[in-house]
Amino acid sequence: MAKTQKTFVCTECGNVSLKWEGRCSACGEWNSLQEEVTVKGSAKQEAKKATQGAWTQKRGRKQEHARPTHITKVQGDGTVRTPTDDEELNRVLGGGIVSGSIVLIGGEPGVGKSTLMLQLALSFSGKVLYVSGEESEQQIKMRAERLGLRDNDCFLMAETNLTNLLMQAATLGPDVLVVDSIQTLSSQYVESPPGSVSQVRECASELQRFAKETNIPVFVIGHINKDGAIAGPKLLEHIVDVVLQFEGDRNYTHRILRTIKNRFGSTAELGIYEMQGRGLREVSNPSELLLTQKEEDLSGSAITATVEGIRPMLIEIQALVSTSVFSSPQRSATGFDLRRLSMLLAVLEKRCGFQFGNNDVFLNVAGGLKVSDPAIDMAVVAALLSSLEDVAMPSNVCFAGEIGLSGEIRSVQRIEQRIQEANRLGFEKIYVSKFNMKGIDPANYDIEIVPLSKVEQLFEDLF
Ligand code: TYD
Ligand code: MG
Repeated sequence: MAKTQKTFVCTECGNVSLKWEGRCSACGEWNSLQEEVTVKGSAKQEAKKATQGAWTQKRGRKQEHARPTHITKVQGDGTVRTPTDDEELNRVLGGGIVSGSIVLIGGEPGVGKSTLMLQLALSFSGKVLYVSGEESEQQIKMRAERLGLRDNDCFLMAETNLTNLLMQAATLGPDVLVVDSIQTLSSQYVESPPGSVSQVRECASELQRFAKETNIPVFVIGHINKDGAIAGPKLLEHIVDVVLQFEGDRNYTHRILRTIKNRFGSTAELGIYEMQGRGLREVSNPSELLLTQKEEDLSGSAITATVEGIRPMLIEIQALVSTSVFSSPQRSATGFDLRRLSMLLAVLEKRCGFQFGNNDVFLNVAGGLKVSDPAIDMAVVAALLSSLEDVAMPSNVCFAGEIGLSGEIRSVQRIEQRIQEANRLGFEKIYVSKFNMKGIDPANYDIEIVPLSKVEQLFEDLF
């Protein structure tokens, strides 16, 4: 019987302490320590060594001691990129799957992580092993049929035991290994239940070792819940090479795949999908999906030219300003920071003399998107004024500018891309900051560019 040890692990930072504390002594988070039992010392090491040997030997490799190499003599053949059929996935991965890399796909339950990975498994031109600890092989096959089963080299396995998983993977030798999900895997040398901090950490490091030694790229799915209470991908982010976050409101069909960390590419990338009855469809032209179709111009709506990552897109901002029946009026924002809305209202009151004190204000970013791009400020202000004055905005006008505390309109990044996107979609006028005009020749665009420096000018020009 191996010796066991009881420890308390912080679910936020992974710090281990020997007794329970209300607050983690390392990261200062309250109520984050979780009791765990691990097999102690040598017994665990021995057992681990035995299994690691098993799958390494299968590949006919021995562990060698490392020696320093001059940088010019290091062989650069390690990073081979294989593009997938999925253009959006290629984009967030920085051009394709890097051999020997480990990629974590995080996201809330039900957002579509398993669907995305199964689609990859079914469309990849090579051998893929899809291991699931969540669904049976029959269930995965049913989903695959729904997604349009193709005649490619895809193998399924329902397994939660890490050692067997790695042995089977090493024997099969796939070009890509997909693991769904890290929270269901368990290593027999850690006593804690699957999904606990030490299990997740142990399984992730073992998968990483596997990827590095066999050169097989590994995709790992990781769940996060709304308050991040369980050992979520936060702790995993340090171990893996690439972290992708799959986001989306379940009430809407579009999903965003965002790069959080990428050792082989840029983190400014973004992939957009639409969830349909037969799986995820790549969206190469997001603006057309996000701009709501209307028959007539209504007050309280303005279009902004925003940039998510490095992709420009046009989205609609909706505002409703109505007389309040309560003594303290309501302020509500969906998809936009509520404090930023309060700040913009304060600027409008102080700098332009509008009164919102007796009004309820509701703000909504259409399409269920959450945006944090400061350039949408100007559209928010335009939508608020349009609703307050009850004057509809022409539908061929859009905005891109940040608003400062003294009511000045500040320049924003990637202005040319925004103007081009608005131009491409047939808008006739774009309001931008005066300070953004440097290096921009309005003669190059079909669209009229209106430079402004103050919020007051925006109001005068519009109404
Ligand atoms: P899933 O991939 O199981 O989510 P996750 O692995 O992130 O928990 O899929 C979640 C939802 O997607 C599910 O509720 C049903 C929906 N869905 C579709 O709308 N169309 C489809 O073709 C598929 C396969 C799923
Ligand atoms: Mg799933």
